[in-house]
Amino acid sequence: MVVSQTGGTEIRHERTGLVFRPGLEGVPATQSSICDIDGLQGRLSYRGYSLDDLAVHSSFLETTYLLIWGELPTPQQFRDFEHEVQMHRRVSFRVRDMMKCFPANGHPMDALQSSAASLGLFYSRRAIDDPQYIYDAVVRLIAKIPTMVAAFQLIRKGQDPIQPRDDLAYSANFLYMLTEQEPDPLASRIFDRCLILHAEHSLNASTFSARVTASTLTDPYAVVASAVGTLAGPLHGGANEDVLAMLEEIGTPEQADSYLESAVASKRKVMGFGHREYKVKDPRAVILQSLAEELFARFGHDELYDVAHALETAAAIRLGPKGIYPNVDFYSGLVYRKLGIPRDLFTPVFAISRVAGWLAHWREQLGANRIFRPSQIYTGTSMRHWVPADERVNAAGA
Ligand code: COA
Repeated sequence: MVVSQTGGTEIRHERTGLVFRPGLEGVPATQSSICDIDGLQGRLSYRGYSLDDLAVHSSFLETTYLLIWGELPTPQQFRDFEHEVQMHRRVSFRVRDMMKCFPANGHPMDALQSSAASLGLFYSRRAIDDPQYIYDAVVRLIAKIPTMVAAFQLIRKGQDPIQPRDDLAYSANFLYMLTEQEPDPLASRIFDRCLILHAEHSLNASTFSARVTASTLTDPYAVVASAVGTLAGPLHGGANEDVLAMLEEIGTPEQADSYLESAVASKRKVMGFGHREYKVKDPRAVILQSLAEELFARFGHDELYDVAHALETAAAIRLGPKGIYPNVDFYSGLVYRKLGIPRDLFTPVFAISRVAGWLAHWREQLGANRIFRPSQIYTGTSMRHWVPADERVNAAGA
């Protein structure tokens, strides 16, 4: 045996003394001044500003500026940034033509990952020590990711993507490009708040992925493409799609407790619950729940909300003692559904927002870079003699 269990989830390598913690739980992998999470109090801040304040007073673009450059912009800085983003919303016809070749039944996250990566072909100058290059790359990615998400939605329906509208603000323009209708101002404002809530969350899997990619000094489009691929999984950004499927499966509020009982008995994960960092209800879930209620009051109730509410109440008893409460994905799907966003676009919408955090971490990583190259604990066989082909038995996979 080369490894031994040391209690908890640690595994110690006997020869080297290295300690492995699965999932790197509790292992700091970087220093960062971007986002702070208090998982016991349920508090979250970006650059020292509480999420509650940002969700009420800020806009997604302003929050993006704050995350990436560390300070809230002056009015002039904000006007310039907003203008630059507006000027770069369009994507080349070559990117749109490429997207037209994607299979219509492919997942929009795969379409987004491929189209984000393709930007590296169009803007290939890799001058990551030039502040102007960094600014331009930030502007392009923040501007073009929503356009690409909306474009794939229309392309897969057999339509041509529609052009961004210069008279519409960032969030309203995305909803317009997606639905082909000018959105209600309340819907736009609520969507913008959702983007603020999802913009950053310290060293989650996709951001870690972004930082690892950034640490090789590759281009920012590769950084974002790698993070999009990581976000797509059901244990990360993909969970909000699964939450709606689960709520539909439960069907009625009365069924919530028995569903939960059987999930707990069979050790099945309840989607939208649990978080490595939070031992209380995720503060983003608190705000998203109130946004859902605001939307329902204006545009009509959603009966799945009653199922969600009943599930949360039942889970407080069955899962609460283990510190498992609703996370950000639990209510976001209900909000997006009311906004008319198709279910398989929930995670791409998450990416539209999280690109702000990824780019903030990209800049921070470049500021004090050392390539990520962790160790491993080898659990394979020790050195052995070469076996000629005609003497081999029981080859792996046979
Ligand atoms: N439902 C039921 N039990 C859960 C649970 C959930 N959603 N999340 C965690 N648990 C339980 C596990 O079964 C495990 O119990 P055990 O110690 O008795 O074996 C314990 O809590 C620890 O779970 P683990 O998966 O090791 O926690 P983690 O920190 O590695 O994972 C998540 C965190 C988010 C991946 C996990 O909570 C999860 O899979 N949640 C559902 C998917 C989801 O909503 N993802 C979106 C995250 S924002």
